[in-house]
Amino acid sequence: MCGIFGIVTEREQMLGALLLEAGRRLAYRGYDSIGCATIDGSGQIDLRKDAGKIDEVDGRLHFKEMRGRRGIVQLRWATFGSPSQANAQPHLDSDGDLVGAHNGNIVNNVSLREEFLAQGMTVRGTNDGESCVHAVERYVNQGRDLVEAIRCAAGDLQGDYAFVVGSSNERGEDGHSPLHAIKKGSGLVVGLAEGATCVSSDLPSILPLTNRILRVFDGEMVTLWPDRVELRRVDTGERIERAPEVFTQGMDAAVKGGYRHFMLKEIHEEPQVAAELIHWLQASPHVTPFLEALTAARRLYFVGCGTSYHACLVGAAYFNQLAGIPAVPVLAPQFRETLARTLTADDAVVLVSQSGETKDVLNALNASRPTGARLLGVLNVLGSTLMHASDHYLPLACGYEISVPATKTYLNQVLLFLYLADRVRAHGDKVDWAKLPDLIATTLESTDEGAQYVASILNPLREMYYLGYGLTLGMALEGALKLKEITYAHCEGILSSEFKHGPLSSVYEGYPVLFVTAPNDAAMMVNHVNEVTCRGGRAIAIAAEDALLRQNVHDYLVLPSASQEVATLLSALPLQLISYYMSVARGIDPDFPRNLSKTLTVD
Ligand code: M6R
Repeated sequence: MCGIFGIVTEREQMLGALLLEAGRRLAYRGYDSIGCATIDGSGQIDLRKDAGKIDEVDGRLHFKEMRGRRGIVQLRWATFGSPSQANAQPHLDSDGDLVGAHNGNIVNNVSLREEFLAQGMTVRGTNDGESCVHAVERYVNQGRDLVEAIRCAAGDLQGDYAFVVGSSNERGEDGHSPLHAIKKGSGLVVGLAEGATCVSSDLPSILPLTNRILRVFDGEMVTLWPDRVELRRVDTGERIERAPEVFTQGMDAAVKGGYRHFMLKEIHEEPQVAAELIHWLQASPHVTPFLEALTAARRLYFVGCGTSYHACLVGAAYFNQLAGIPAVPVLAPQFRETLARTLTADDAVVLVSQSGETKDVLNALNASRPTGARLLGVLNVLGSTLMHASDHYLPLACGYEISVPATKTYLNQVLLFLYLADRVRAHGDKVDWAKLPDLIATTLESTDEGAQYVASILNPLREMYYLGYGLTLGMALEGALKLKEITYAHCEGILSSEFKHGPLSSVYEGYPVLFVTAPNDAAMMVNHVNEVTCRGGRAIAIAAEDALLRQNVHDYLVLPSASQEVATLLSALPLQLISYYMSVARGIDPDFPRNLSKTLTVD
């Protein structure tokens, strides 16, 4: 997830070191490129940027030597355009007197670039941050002042983003020059320090300079001067008066965005990352070749480990049920030992891994390669081994996931599979993608209390079962894994109709069994519920409202009403929340559970 920081100071100074420090404090968000721009008192712009880690790039470009009164630093996490010098941010406009950087996604980037090129502008890379700068340039060229130009450009930029920009030609009456920043969907906060003001994607880079913070909301822009800021509405240009707040919590709270743990923060980022992935999938030219390879395959396997494997289970079920395309989910090590041996060049293997570095997944890939089968990667970390080794890949666009338990990356894995299956679906109504992020946000809000309640029921126990059926089998397995991972309780996830084939003997009076149910399976699930309740077990349902199911269970965690496939996806949220609350109630740090590592590079 990219991060931006901009500062305007009273006096000319060596700004590079300050920018570098701000960049370091944005680094926890994840990045693959860094760039700094300074503008001195005479309007001279110094721009240095490249792909690589901060110290590595600083070693080559010597950011600390950069002087100026205004400065911008950007850390880029590549989505549009590969990690490269040209795509690293900040970017210049055609004649080099505007410099700016963004974070977020400009979803109409491809068509905007074509327009800019047709209008004779100098476009140096393929990154969408560059499009923000050219969008402003277009209106500056028409003679508008920078505030006006930014407001007009906002009308041309589709997607969610925060953007900071400065001009070498703009000067106020007091001789100082400003930076401007605009917010639409991505984070942006302003800091008011002594002799300087600054703006950033989030608080950690601001707090070492000041704790006087001004909130900026979507649809607003801010102009920063050394001694003041001006806030405006983007649509009308009308000025907004808002008092700054004093941030009294520490740096740890700031890094966690006010949440107690990264896991909770990352769960609450799910509506946003889902929106970003949907925008990306709708705009990206990478989706069609990926889908073509997938649909042309004679046999199709979805391969992963842990949480990523559970996404494969749900994804394969989507392909089978919605698209009528047979897809087989397989655990990566088992795939290497069995099915990889019978692959042919007509087959395709979708390898799913958040990190893109899981050794078991790479082993499966390496075992598949000699057969000539198509190798398709789904990953979150761009630049990972899986990305480079795949014939085609799709990103999860989640930004950095710090917490060991995968949450937002799992939701986006399932979403990505649903999106692909929906593109080639043979049955039922298409998913309303524009509404899905709001539905995810509503689910988070409406199930939070129920999740705390279910966590309180499960917390005294050392073992339990999660059952799913059809599409929700993968969800039940994932809910059970998440619970094991961060509460240390034993929780087994299985197919609800399998329960009677053995595990049913473990049920005693009050024994809890949780049923994850998609709407069309409610009647079948009631049978499986009754097998448990008639033996004294306590049935807990996670499902959209269903009268029959309600009559048959003891506790009901209600999901918003949605189609079979969307309801399945939504059930991930309360399952993650239950594990989180139970982990915290047990005094465990869910971000760093014992014995586990985020990236497993061993066999
Ligand atoms: O990076 P990957 O998605 O390949 O990781 C696979 C598993 O190690 C991972 O999903 C693990 O199960 C998670 N910690 C679960 O939260």
